[in-house]
Amino acid sequence: MRKKVDQVLEEKKELAFLGGGKERINKQHQKNKLTARERIDFILDEGSFEEIGMFVTHRATEFGLEKQQYLGDGVITGYGKIDGRSVVIFAQDFTVFGGSLSETHAEKIVKAMDLALKSKIPIIGLNDSGGARIQEGVRSLAGYADIFKKNVDASGVIPQISAIMGPCAGGAVYSPAMTDFTIMVQKSSYMFVTGPNVVKTVTNETVTSEELGGADTHATKSGVTHFTASNDMDCLLKIKKLLSYLPNSFENKVPELPIQLQDERIEELEDILPNSINQPYDIVSIIELIVDKKSFLEVHKDFAENIVVGFARIGGKSIGIVANQPIYLAGCLDVKASQKGARFVRFCDSFNIPLIVLEDVPGFLPGTDQEWNAIITNGAKLLYAFSEATVARITIIIRKAYGGAYDVMNSKHIGADFNFAWPSAEIAVMGAKGASEIIFKNEIKSAADPAQAWEEKQNLYADTFANPYKAAARGFIDEVIQPYDTRRKIIRSLDLLANKKINPIAKKHGNIPL
Ligand code: HXC
Repeated sequence: MRKKVDQVLEEKKELAFLGGGKERINKQHQKNKLTARERIDFILDEGSFEEIGMFVTHRATEFGLEKQQYLGDGVITGYGKIDGRSVVIFAQDFTVFGGSLSETHAEKIVKAMDLALKSKIPIIGLNDSGGARIQEGVRSLAGYADIFKKNVDASGVIPQISAIMGPCAGGAVYSPAMTDFTIMVQKSSYMFVTGPNVVKTVTNETVTSEELGGADTHATKSGVTHFTASNDMDCLLKIKKLLSYLPNSFENKVPELPIQLQDERIEELEDILPNSINQPYDIVSIIELIVDKKSFLEVHKDFAENIVVGFARIGGKSIGIVANQPIYLAGCLDVKASQKGARFVRFCDSFNIPLIVLEDVPGFLPGTDQEWNAIITNGAKLLYAFSEATVARITIIIRKAYGGAYDVMNSKHIGADFNFAWPSAEIAVMGAKGASEIIFKNEIKSAADPAQAWEEKQNLYADTFANPYKAAARGFIDEVIQPYDTRRKIIRSLDLLANKKINPIAKKHGNIPL
């Protein structure tokens, strides 16, 4: 005979669902925040969540903690589906000891990460925590370290996404920092290693939590967060969108959507460039014309805006885009742009996402600020990242490709598979103005009319080098293409490269200039 529903189990579940209790749940809502369970319900496909470790409790006895037991111990872990695809998820529950991390709380997160790793599916962490559980001392710190180590083990194996939906301070920040993407909720989240009070004591600076480590600060100044969200729901929707571009693991191909029109000519590209070489334009308008409609998701949008990186689809398949942005710093590469670009390139390469580079770069940004902040080492990061990438790599030179930046921006020389150039491309050591000033210095100086001589020499240099044909003659450019043909060329090249495989040179690991 079938046993009726076990009442003890049901009551225990009900207790677990209450977390830290109704009063604390209300407080969470008053702060305009969802609870951990509400967040999980919102992001996962309806009814798909399977919880693991609901009845785990902490083992601490100090400071009367043995009398304060909450089922789940401040973190909800389990698995479910997003748009039909499996994910592992954990959500810290601020209503239980402020979501602080105890030994058992850490064990639950590590167990979830192990599950994601062996199942080869992405892991999403929803962070909302007062940090180390103060009453547990070093056991909590050990728990953090276990998570950090697991983050590193999972790096490059499965996508790891961190949402910061409340406090995240002290060493706790290092787990999200080691995951692939971070998204912060504006006004209700912050991340810092030391908070405003310590800052005041040590450096005498007066700063608010928001200024020091709020979402906007990290999106614009530090680049710690890749995305911001206006509230919890926006944050969870953005994670879903991001996930739609990513494969489950490094062993899987990128997700595919039904194919849109393939080979169409994009006539709007024909007159998209301004008349003057020195006039800026928004590279995003070109990206949006080339990729599948409404598929571009910009990453790190507000940080180092002189380079644009992001995901899109072309012919239904995910791609990663790296593009110089002429409306900021004329599209020059600087320290932050190099860091931003390098990290994105490495992510795409880890997870089989082909790279498309749109190039319009006048060079590296000059100046003491750049040199003293190690543009040499940082620029080398981008060079290294492109050079080691084995995914399909295609470059389109749109306008300027000057100097070292030409080599760095996914040139043929460092392993790009196809390099195309628009007829407007200028591939040279530098622009005609600067070049003629240097190489014709004496002739210009001794000319009857130096201004006129300089102009003539500029034209001479421009006629010789300010075009793509010298590079095409050498085979450094595979083909000079009409702008309208860009999408078609990319689709066909990617189709050809679909099974590209390069066996890496045997070594332990490379030594990227960090
Ligand atoms: C234990 C904690 C806690 C913590 C908060 N709580 N943080 N319990 N350990 N770290 C508890 C509070 O006692 C309270 O319990 C409940 O969570 C909510 O906290 P409130 O202070 O009432 O909430 P709020 O005003 O929103 O302030 C949130 C807060 C604040 C800013 C996070 O609680 C705070 O400053 N906490 C301490 C943060 C901290 O210093 N953590 C250690 C960082 S160092 P009741 O019972 O009243 O609901 C660190 C090192 C990690 O984490 C190293 C890794 C290598």
